[in-house]
Amino acid sequence: MPAALTIGPLSLASRVLQSPMADCTDLPFRLIAREHGLTLACVEMVSANSLARANRKTLEMLKTIPQDRPLAVQLLGSDPATMARAAAAVEGMGADLLDINLGCSVRKVVKNGEGAALLREPGKVGRILRAVRRALKRLPLTVKMRKGFDDESGRQAVEIAAISELEGVSALAVHGRTALQGYDVKADYAAIGAVKAAVRIPVIGNGDVFSAEDALAMAAASSCDAVMVGRGGLGNPWIYRDIDLALAGGGPKAAPPNPAERRAVLLRHLDYEALHVGERLAALNMRRIGAWYTTGLPHAKRLRTALCLADSTAAARRLIEEFFDRLGIQGPAHGLAQ
Ligand SMILES: Cc1cc2nc3c(=O)[nH]c(=O)nc-3n(C[C@H](O)[C@H](O)[C@H](O)COP(=O)(O)O)c2cc1C
Repeated sequence: MPAALTIGPLSLASRVLQSPMADCTDLPFRLIAREHGLTLACVEMVSANSLARANRKTLEMLKTIPQDRPLAVQLLGSDPATMARAAAAVEGMGADLLDINLGCSVRKVVKNGEGAALLREPGKVGRILRAVRRALKRLPLTVKMRKGFDDESGRQAVEIAAISELEGVSALAVHGRTALQGYDVKADYAAIGAVKAAVRIPVIGNGDVFSAEDALAMAAASSCDAVMVGRGGLGNPWIYRDIDLALAGGGPKAAPPNPAERRAVLLRHLDYEALHVGERLAALNMRRIGAWYTTGLPHAKRLRTALCLADSTAAARRLIEEFFDRLGIQGPAHGLAQ
């Protein structure tokens, strides 16, 4: 199949990516997403400082298995030398792509001058990218940024994009909101288009893509080369194929997942959590994951409350099975996918 998206040496058959999301895009999430058509997946952001200190929790966040490829790792930080050391460590771990976070707007991160705060410091971004590029032997380098820190015109993103291209970045992901804007402001696809018009490297649009129709609207408004799904992928791994089909210009529209499929995939997600993240954390994670897959179903709130009291994955499984049984929704026999 001809590549639909090329990022440096990486040839991807799909023009749909999943954004990194803290506490969400862990190994089980990525495995489920890949089974449903996602090609390139990304680990949630990891702090370059913590990685340089070989912090145990940070190393756990980078846990992967051979099926979890191709894999991107996103770094958060602001000191060029530390970022370079962390980049070399990521390359040494066998990742396929390194991404730099210029979008995180969490107060503590911004106060440290990291994430989206760097959008106000183009000179520093240039120094970080140069140091990281030099530290990498083979990995393509990408940047994920917002359209600006505070400037709603989108000019900050265009400036950072030009610097990124100059420093050897292979692709850019642009989230069409400023760091000061909350999620109730609609993502600005024209700002993504302005970045696309300013550079020759691939531009990946991000923000408010919850359906194939949203992806088509973003592509039409911005001429972006690929679409990055964020919250729209939580509990909805079917979205990747839907969007790919739509971007490829049609074919039959993928059928929406039926409730039995929803049950089966949620239980498989639980299996992967139990297998890969450890029993205690897996049971905790199921509160969030159970809610993703059952939103909109009758009595979903009751399930969410019950999952908060489940202290094991076995208990979480029982609650989920009872929930779907009560709705008369049976699934195919669950178990790990072969
Ligand atoms: C819970 C949560 C965690 C996130 N974590 C990250 C992260 O680690 N790195 C990052 O670049 N963006 C992160 N983001 C931002 C998303 O990747 C994405 O850019 C943003 O949600 C816009 O896309 P959407 O409107 O499709 O959700 C996070 C967003 C949410 C809601």
